[in-house]
Amino acid sequence: MNAPLRVAVTGAAGQIGYALLFRIASGQMFGPDQPVILQMIEIPVDKALQALKGVAMELDDCAFPLLQGMVLTSDPTEGFKDVDWALLVGSKPRGPGMERADLLKDNGKIFVGQGKAIDDHAADGCRVAVVGNPANTNAMIGASQCRRIPATNWSAMVRLDQNRAQSQLANKAGVQTSDVEDIYIFGNHSPTMFPAFHLAKINNKPAPDVIGDKAYLEGEFCETVGKRGAAIIAARGASSAASAANALVDHVRDLCTPGKIHSVAVKSEGQYGFHPDVWAGLPVRTTADGYEVVEDLSMDAFATAKIKATNDELVSERETVAEMLD
Ligand code: NAD
Ligand code: LMR
Repeated sequence: MNAPLRVAVTGAAGQIGYALLFRIASGQMFGPDQPVILQMIEIPVDKALQALKGVAMELDDCAFPLLQGMVLTSDPTEGFKDVDWALLVGSKPRGPGMERADLLKDNGKIFVGQGKAIDDHAADGCRVAVVGNPANTNAMIGASQCRRIPATNWSAMVRLDQNRAQSQLANKAGVQTSDVEDIYIFGNHSPTMFPAFHLAKINNKPAPDVIGDKAYLEGEFCETVGKRGAAIIAARGASSAASAANALVDHVRDLCTPGKIHSVAVKSEGQYGFHPDVWAGLPVRTTADGYEVVEDLSMDAFATAKIKATNDELVSERETVAEMLD
């Protein structure tokens, strides 16, 4: 058995937290030989921490062999102490009629404090995955507070968008999701994101050839994937939770699996025309000690215009939170 990994989860008593913790504790995120200690962070102390005690009782009741300890706290110093991974879920979800960017001012400040606390207290080499919206820009805010933990250790989640795009293509082509490969998300976790269908393969053939409907791919497909979060809020009355937790399991597991190519929002270094100071969804290849962006994928005029639009939005979000960046 390996030494246990310490994993912080913020917002642990929330919707996503409830769908996530049991999957981490059962080994689905870090593998069947990797014990974990869950460091669960909730505020406010009275109500949310009380609810978290109930969640911890349920975790206990599962008797997970890999769960070697639990910390329940409202204090980021204690919560992030020595952690190897910090999963930043805790923040407000949007309601009906809102865009994720409407959460910027309220949620952004959470990531100022948590970025500092991670830099001060986490283990060397701690890796961070941001889920709380607007995820790309929150990751940028958090990473900007760090001096010790490098920006390349921070990521934000666009994997839910990749999974959604994969399912939509499979449904349209009448195949299984496992027949669809190489579908990647470029840009913001927002309706401007670009699910790059021109790179995707269905049973090893170019997806546009298999689907044979350019108007659908450029229109309905991009719109359905980009607005899926809002469609779920309209249908469910609450934002996606189980699928978001599932995507975070995929995101972290693939970031721990060298050779995997998957969509992750990372600090841009100017690839594909993204501004070098924004955090953009990009295809990354996991390496032995991190990731590298997959460069030089072909972009046609439609793709270039879509990337420009999502980059412009990320640049404008950056300007909105300029005072939160260190
Ligand atoms: P929720 O309201 O059910 O849970 C959020 C929890 O976070 C609450 O229990 C709250 O008490 C806690 N919290 C708030 N501020 C905190 C802080 N500073 N420290 C610790 N805990 C704190 O919300 P949810 O449905 O779990 O969603 C959480 C976030 O994830 C939202 O911002 C939502 O929009 C986002 N989200 C992102 C994606 C994605 O693909 N990136 C997908 C789904 C949801
Ligand atoms: C999603 O994509 O489901 C989440 O980001 C929640 C939301 O606000 O859409």
